Amino acid sequence: MYTPSPSWSNLLISALALSPLASAIPQPETTTNIPSQNTTNSTLLPYLDPSLCISDRLDDLLSRMTLEEKAGQLFIKQIPAGINGTIDNTTIIPDGTRNLTTAPLITEKLLSHFNVNNARSARQMAEWHNEIQNLALQTRLKIPVTIASDPRHAFADTVGSSIASGQFSKFPESLGIAALRDPVLAELYATIIREEYLAVGIRNALQPQIDVVTEPRMARSGQTFGEDANLTASMVVALIKGFQGEELGLNSVSTVTKHFPGAGPSRNGNDSHFATGKDNTYFGDFLDYHLIPFKAAIAAGGRQIMPSYARPIGTKYPEVAFGFNKPVITGLIREELGFKGIVVSDWGLITDQAILNVIEPARAWGLENTTESERAKMVLDAGVDQFGGEIRTELLIQLVTSGQIPESRLDISVRKLLEEKFLLGLFDHRFVDPEAAEKVVGNAYFARIGNETQRRAYTLLTNQINTLPLRPTDGVKFYARGFNSSYLEARGLQTVDQPYKADFCFLRLSTPYEARGSPFRQRYHEGRLDFNTSQKASHSELFNSCPTIVDILLDRPAVIPEIAQEAAALFGHYGASVDAFLDVVFNVDGWKPEGKLPFDMPSSMEAVDEQVADVPFDTEDPLFRFGHGLSYNRTALCG
Ligand SMILES: *[C@@H]1O[C@H](CO)[C@@H](O)[C@H](O)[C@H]1NC(C)=O
Ligand SMILES: *[C@@H]1O[C@H](CO)[C@@H](O)[C@H](O)[C@H]1NC(C)=O
Ligand SMILES: *[C@@H]1O[C@H](CO)[C@@H](O)[C@H](O)[C@H]1NC(C)=O
Ligand SMILES: *[C@@H]1O[C@H](CO)[C@@H](O)[C@H](O)[C@H]1NC(C)=O
Ligand SMILES: *[C@@H]1O[C@H](CO)[C@@H](O)[C@H](O)[C@H]1NC(C)=O
Ligand SMILES: *[C@@H]1O[C@H](CO)[C@@H](O)[C@H](O)[C@H]1NC(C)=O
Ligand SMILES: *[C@@H]1O[C@H](CO)[C@@H](O)[C@H](O)[C@H]1NC(C)=O
Ligand SMILES: *[C@@H]1O[C@H](CO)[C@@H](O)[C@H](O)[C@H]1NC(C)=O
Ligand SMILES: *[C@@H]1O[C@H](CO)[C@@H](O)[C@H](O)[C@H]1NC(C)=O
Ligand SMILES: *[C@@H]1O[C@H](CO)[C@@H](O)[C@H](O)[C@H]1NC(C)=O
Ligand SMILES: *[C@@H]1O[C@H](CO)[C@@H](O)[C@H](O)[C@H]1NC(C)=O
Ligand SMILES: *[C@@H]1O[C@H](CO)[C@@H](O)[C@H](O)[C@H]1NC(C)=O
Repeated sequence: MYTPSPSWSNLLISALALSPLASAIPQPETTTNIPSQNTTNSTLLPYLDPSLCISDRLDDLLSRMTLEEKAGQLFIKQIPAGINGTIDNTTIIPDGTRNLTTAPLITEKLLSHFNVNNARSARQMAEWHNEIQNLALQTRLKIPVTIASDPRHAFADTVGSSIASGQFSKFPESLGIAALRDPVLAELYATIIREEYLAVGIRNALQPQIDVVTEPRMARSGQTFGEDANLTASMVVALIKGFQGEELGLNSVSTVTKHFPGAGPSRNGNDSHFATGKDNTYFGDFLDYHLIPFKAAIAAGGRQIMPSYARPIGTKYPEVAFGFNKPVITGLIREELGFKGIVVSDWGLITDQAILNVIEPARAWGLENTTESERAKMVLDAGVDQFGGEIRTELLIQLVTSGQIPESRLDISVRKLLEEKFLLGLFDHRFVDPEAAEKVVGNAYFARIGNETQRRAYTLLTNQINTLPLRPTDGVKFYARGFNSSYLEARGLQTVDQPYKADFCFLRLSTPYEARGSPFRQRYHEGRLDFNTSQKASHSELFNSCPTIVDILLDRPAVIPEIAQEAAALFGHYGASVDAFLDVVFNVDGWKPEGKLPFDMPSSMEAVDEQVADVPFDTEDPLFRFGHGLSYNRTALCG
């Protein structure tokens, strides 16, 4: 059941009070016609009895669980929400011997953690979620399901790491939150995501991604907070507070900070989903720098941590993937840093699996020749609590029945995972209200904050002869490349079909990348950060035809000295609609760029090659420094 959260009410009430749209904010409704547990059963088992304390309920539940039921808890698997609020029965999920779908994962394999990996309407997601909970009620122990999600409040849509926002409020990628340097905004951002997640039944956020981007080519930079560990630390603290509240409860979404100990120092920036990106290199001896945000996350009470796929090169640790690395998971995370929460592995450490119709190898980097069973044992021995993206319960059962792993080892992790469900209130409040979900998700207030943040995060890198903001006067003609000129016409502006006929040109770009290898790998933005010769020639032709305002999506720090030189003005953004761009260009309603770069922008690919992967701010003679960002020194309205 969706209820507004008391612990955040001050923040929301003060925000709502400031909002001219406050009257339009839908109040979540309490409806009575939703399914609920029959609590009139006088023989209610102790663990199902809300009047008992959590530790007693946990003891009771654990004492009843079979080995199979315990094994099921130790896995979290990605599944799609089905059509029209139904449970999907078409997507095949192989378990090594059989082809399964969602339902048998719950009723036969006894899984109760999933991440939903597609987008449906808010109502349908809520209805689907309730169907999933109904299925769980059919199992012997009726353990409620926990639904998780990769980030889904921005633009990026990358299999395995982010989902485009759909009906959810649309913000810039988290880099844009970092560009605004405002922990209060960061907490509001997480609060809005939390409210929308709660409404559809998502109770676990596979974020914040707090990898520090010390290697400019790092493929997953877009969902980080940039290059500065301290800024990232301040952001993660604010986000954890927004998601979880002061302590985990009925209105919380638990967080998974990732990817420990920081996936920034990837060799060549290649992504660690793939063998070509399996190494994190620490030749600058900067491992401690990457730990700064994780220490902050632990101190802030972040519930879960996900180790990186990569393996460390150039440290005292064994050169095996972090999820298998006992000196890192048990030694560093738990014993040195004192983390007591859940460690969930990244997805697919054990089993080779088809992604976009191509078999991708298990990410057992440094352990490629081990068997699946050996991998499962190493992950458990390392101290990981839960296997992401896997359903191989039979491997764990076999490890226990053959005496290789004591059942008490499973109990340690099962207890933590079930405690989280109790704390989230899932045993006692497992259903959500689809009507309320429809009203909460993407409501006018939340969407407006998202839209505003897209505009505010705009980072003005150059503004030659004070070109901006533009003031369209009668007869001024515009030419658009990289977006549809109908956006200009809709504003009553005159457009032309050739640059030479225009008074001003617009060019909207994305940071270059190289699409390499398998279809899955091609989704990850690796490789060079500069435009090639033919692209540069085409840009120059435009710049020579008319004064051009360039807008580039910075999901990594682009290498664009020639654009900085030749464009009339240059903006960076981190996920923004065309309308957001034009509002900033024309200073509509006073919108102006407020963002400051969350990383250095290198001046050449030679400088990129020469910097050291784990060292921040070491690119020689950067084009723009971390923190750069101009303001308008006049407005469109006056002077
Ligand atoms: C009451 O709950 C117990 C335990 O779940 C179950 O065995 C029993 O059948 C229930 N009784 C009724 C009448 O539903
Ligand atoms: C709830 O359980 C009681 C028995 O404990 C039973 O008499 C009653 O019919 C049940 N109600 C529903 C709605 O299932
Ligand atoms: C989903 O619902 C729509 C509208 O009610 C209906 O037209 C469509 O056939 C449904 N699809 C399925 C697969 O049930
Ligand atoms: C799959 O689900 C749809 C919608 O609930 C249902 O109509 C269909 O019969 C199901 N198919 C199978 C094979 O279970
Ligand atoms: C599972 O489905 C795939 C097609 O998606 C098929 O090639 C394979 O043989 C099936 N495996 C089993 C065990 O049924
Ligand atoms: C980061 O914070 C630490 C501790 O407050 C401080 O010692 C260090 O100088 C800061 N680093 C930067 C780059 O601001
Ligand atoms: C990164 O990927 C590129 C392209 O596939 C490859 O040439 C390079 O060797 C890779 N780097 C490493 C360290 O494997
Ligand atoms: C795995 O085995 C192959 C062939 O036996 C060998 O070339 C390779 O070095 C081994 N890899 C590791 C990580 O041990
Ligand atoms: C947010 O921006 C989108 C895209 O420009 C627009 O369709 C929507 O109406 C805006 N919502 C609010 C509440 O401002
Ligand atoms: C541009 O927008 C117009 C009006 O919405 C539409 O008709 C046209 O197909 C669009 N052009 C392109 C290339 O997307
Ligand atoms: C430059 O990049 C574009 C876009 O990826 C590509 O179509 C074109 O072939 C490339 N040109 C050269 C000269 O590499
Ligand atoms: C605005 O900044 C430009 C340089 O960026 C400068 O030439 C101009 O004098 C400034 N105008 C005002 C009103 O400060």
